[in-house]
Amino acid sequence: MKSIKKIEEDIYYLGGADRRIQLFENVYPVPEGVTYNSYLVKDDKTALLDTVDCAIADEFFENLASALEGRQLDYVIVNHMEPDHAATLGRLLAAYPQAVLVTTQKALVIVEEFFGAISNQVMLVKEGDRLSLGKRTFRFILAPMVHWPEVMMTYEEYGQILFSADAFGSFGASDACLFAKDEDFSEYRRYYCNIVGKYGAPVSSVLKKASALPIAMLCPLHGKIWKGNFDKLLEKYVAWSSYAPEEKGVLIVYASVYGHTKCAAELLASLLAERGVTVRIYDVSKTHPSYLIAEAFRFSHIVCASITYNAGIFVNMEHFLSDLKAHGLKNRTCAVIENGGWAPASGKLMQELLSSVGTVLPQTVTMRGALKESAPVEALADAIAETV
Ligand code: FEO
Repeated sequence: MKSIKKIEEDIYYLGGADRRIQLFENVYPVPEGVTYNSYLVKDDKTALLDTVDCAIADEFFENLASALEGRQLDYVIVNHMEPDHAATLGRLLAAYPQAVLVTTQKALVIVEEFFGAISNQVMLVKEGDRLSLGKRTFRFILAPMVHWPEVMMTYEEYGQILFSADAFGSFGASDACLFAKDEDFSEYRRYYCNIVGKYGAPVSSVLKKASALPIAMLCPLHGKIWKGNFDKLLEKYVAWSSYAPEEKGVLIVYASVYGHTKCAAELLASLLAERGVTVRIYDVSKTHPSYLIAEAFRFSHIVCASITYNAGIFVNMEHFLSDLKAHGLKNRTCAVIENGGWAPASGKLMQELLSSVGTVLPQTVTMRGALKESAPVEALADAIAETV
């Protein structure tokens, strides 16, 4: 049974969903799966834009053959060589030896790293180069580090369609609708911040290039297709790529073994809420770091509360903070609560890791075991509330 979806008269969606996958990139939980999107344009010439992950290879090849209806595949445009989009490229080039591979010099190096020397003809393209299929003409837009160095986007001039590679994608495959409507941006945020979040500057440059183009439709490599209603998504991308918080509010993340550090974190959350501050609170050992990274990109303030463990930060908190630093987040206001029975040490270490994320407030709470009095937490709540 073929499953080919027309998105325009001569443009077909040939992607598919992977709902068996547990961890995207073997790191990120995807409880609602993920899609790998590929597009076929049938004009005077035919062109395929990217392939798919090997998880959906068989259905992809069946759909491609069916959608071509006996026609030759003239071009294969590779916007991104990461295997979630290119694992099936070697099989495709072998199955369609007359297809010309259209990509950048940088991507060709990666093609050969994965597949060895290829025998298909290659057309190397640079920024602004064009390729006409007949009615439709592609213009190529380099997008290095969104998310790998070889990435490009392909703009189709007749339909004003931007094939945007990883940009504007999302986790999730449970909504069978191909087109975006009223989207909840949580999984867009978690996808962007964790996958591309480190590369804010390159994303900002590509957004500037894209803003000069009339765009009627956005076709990313994951998630939904956007038809003209993507102003909110663009606003989110501007905030995420410039590391500006989306909302004023406090993310509290705590690491607690016997509940005392949790108690202090909960008290702080209540005191902030009483002061009219938006608060989100998470146990770092319960919530996967990818969700916490996304919340850290969302909010203006971050508070970390941790016990001292092996004379350092509790292991899951250390993982979260290292991950946060690695993702390059900036411009946040941060604070810490530390706990340590005989030698509290986590506070200073957390402050050091948070110093790359923004301003660390000098007010701290140091606990030895249970929280004895609320005054230090109240003082911290006041200091945070003053800066929100
Ligand atoms: Fe969806 Fe960077 O690959």
